Amino acid sequence: VLATIANELLAQIETFARHLQGRPLFVGCGTAFHAALSGVYFWQIIAKKAASAVAGSEFLYSRDVLSDQDFVTFISQSGETIDIVEHLPVLKERHIPFGAVVNRLGSTLERGSQHKVLLPAGAEQCVLATKSYTAMVAVLFLQAHEQAGTLQQGKAELLETVKELEPLLQPEYRTEHILPIADFLTKAEHVFLIGRGHSYPVALEAALKIKEVTYVHTEGFAGGELKHGVIALIEQGTPCIVFAPEGSEYEATISNALELKVRGAKIIGVSSKPSDAFDFFLPVDAVAQLSTITHAVVMQLVAYNMAIILGNDPDKPRNLAKSVTVK
Ligand code: AGP
Repeated sequence: VLATIANELLAQIETFARHLQGRPLFVGCGTAFHAALSGVYFWQIIAKKAASAVAGSEFLYSRDVLSDQDFVTFISQSGETIDIVEHLPVLKERHIPFGAVVNRLGSTLERGSQHKVLLPAGAEQCVLATKSYTAMVAVLFLQAHEQAGTLQQGKAELLETVKELEPLLQPEYRTEHILPIADFLTKAEHVFLIGRGHSYPVALEAALKIKEVTYVHTEGFAGGELKHGVIALIEQGTPCIVFAPEGSEYEATISNALELKVRGAKIIGVSSKPSDAFDFFLPVDAVAQLSTITHAVVMQLVAYNMAIILGNDPDKPRNLAKSVTVK
């Protein structure tokens, strides 16, 4: 899917960009909201432009301040989420420009949007958004590169990421790295996850993936925020997953991990290089901001294997529907 996006979607992305002239606001729900947050970081880091994101259910309270100087990008796998599609007639009536990044051709959102990028992820068999999420992230990454005038660089980095994913999907990686950590986490009552910068949305999305299929309480935080209160919850042995891709946030992230470690936390480091801060280490290579994808895929695999160990159905978790089409 990611190779298809890199090789075949650039024209759609360039056409979409010609209409994306206003202040960008990304709107999504759940996992799509986490993709929206990644879109903001990509815009800021790559295109050096301001952007913002809001959850679809909260957009009700902020859409009244928008004008034709804004551009809303709705992000949705199903294209039927009520907290997304309910806004379409209102924005149309108010001539507020909007577009869609959507996985389902023929959906309400796809049919209702004049400007769109159609994700080629195909139908997902499980309730969780997995390949549609990584496809959303890839498109938002390329959109930011298009804004920066570096689309070919973005394409090359995305194709590099496709290569980096291959070893993560092999049985050997599962046996050596995923299963020991999944087994350890299934015994936890609470799991905390932290990431800085473009890894902050990864912490939120990884937390949601684990919650959805294991029912273990997990919470994701910005790396520097956990010490503002939540650190009171850290006890001896509390697992904390730390997303530490190499880059400008690396040192600060490691220091956040050490703050947790001295209070008894067990640190699971997701990084391209080991660190004394890590009690467990998930080796994951990454190029630029696309650690968002490689780290997320590894966490999808951790969540899946935790569910199997716990005897849960990873495709149909309790209480959840594939698309929330009612208020
Ligand atoms: C994802 O794992 C969840 N099942 C859920 O948060 C989902 O992302 C959300 O309901 C939005 O759905 P959509 O992308 O189809 O709009």
